[in-house]
Amino acid sequence: MVTTIALVLAAGRGSRMQLDSPKQYADLCGKPVLRWSVETFLEHQHIDRVFVVYHPADRLLYENATAGLALPNPISGGSTRQESAKRGLEALAIHNPDRVLIHDGARPFVKTSLINDLLDSLFNTNAVVPGLPIVDTLKRVIDSEVEETITRDNLWRIQTPQIFNYSEVLEAHRTFIDQHFSDDSAMLETAGLKVKIVEGDVENIKITQANDLLAAREKLMGTTPLIQVGTGFDVHRFGKGDHVILCGVKIPFQFSLEGHSDGDVAIHSVVDAILGAISMGDIGQHFPSTEDKWKNCNSKLFLEQVMELLQTVGGKVIHLDLTIICNAPNISKFRNPMRTQMSEIMDIPVETISIKATTTDGLGFTGRGEGIAVQTVATIALTNF
Ligand code: CTP
Ligand code: MG
Repeated sequence: MVTTIALVLAAGRGSRMQLDSPKQYADLCGKPVLRWSVETFLEHQHIDRVFVVYHPADRLLYENATAGLALPNPISGGSTRQESAKRGLEALAIHNPDRVLIHDGARPFVKTSLINDLLDSLFNTNAVVPGLPIVDTLKRVIDSEVEETITRDNLWRIQTPQIFNYSEVLEAHRTFIDQHFSDDSAMLETAGLKVKIVEGDVENIKITQANDLLAAREKLMGTTPLIQVGTGFDVHRFGKGDHVILCGVKIPFQFSLEGHSDGDVAIHSVVDAILGAISMGDIGQHFPSTEDKWKNCNSKLFLEQVMELLQTVGGKVIHLDLTIICNAPNISKFRNPMRTQMSEIMDIPVETISIKATTTDGLGFTGRGEGIAVQTVATIALTNF
């Protein structure tokens, strides 16, 4: 298994911004600048761990910015970016990852698709960096006077994250400790190693000057997602058997749930809630029980297909709230395995999934122990509307 760590640099002072505190802690539409990229890395399924390099003087700001996130203790940075990156890399030695992505915490808009491109491109090369060809004319200016025009042919501007084989980038940092480089990949080039480019992203800006923060806020305001909510409800009756399947988890029981598929009433209600939130029909329409191909099938397939559909309409699940209604089996000890299983199937963080259970005080069909009902509320964010 290849292990990949993301190292987010956030020990800078942000002197060009002239704010009261460093720019990585400035508010960007309800979230500090730093939190945006850290969350993107934490949510990425091929990144194993995320480490932040910070300035110890920012401890409170850091704790506030990362509250509730699954992060290890931050690493103390140095007085230059290069030093901070080196300290970060040295601190990773005990984890000895195969690959490391080094990112500027001042770039909040790094996208999952760019991270994917970088991860996919680290072969037959020692590093991969995102870049964009320069389109404007370049001139060297001194004291407001043009000294010369520089031909822009073959010139690219380079962003982060940059991906490396861990041991090579650490070695480069150790070798060039006394020389200044403006990014990590420049050291590898100097060492004669190969650095490849993938297409960067114009939106992946680095917050550097005060107007960058304003522009970033405007960009986000312009794309505030549309929030839609859907509900799902499903019931399956008990039949002969020795286990039920709820949220993809097998629970030993004296009955099973009847159904055309595996009877996973919880997943069915989630599927309906998501379809409801995007007004795209219901489970019976997408996976008719008259079709043989769905017979005895794992309900996980329904959910995976609906997640794909959701993606094609620009939607993202931001929260799920399930209520499982039955006398028995007892749900409580399966709650966390269920949340984990759903988080894996749907590729969403486990914290966004709530699973509750209730009885109906002996009343009605669930009270008589005839079956299980599940209701779900799904909250969806749509960004491509
Ligand atoms: N950085 C760091 N340690 C430093 C300097 C910079 O970890 N000693 C980080 C910054 O926090 C930022 C990234 O490196 O996420 C890119 O640096 P830059 O944009 O230059 O940020 P600052 O150094 O904070 O800003 P300024 O140069 O205006 O002071
Ligand atoms: Mg700087």
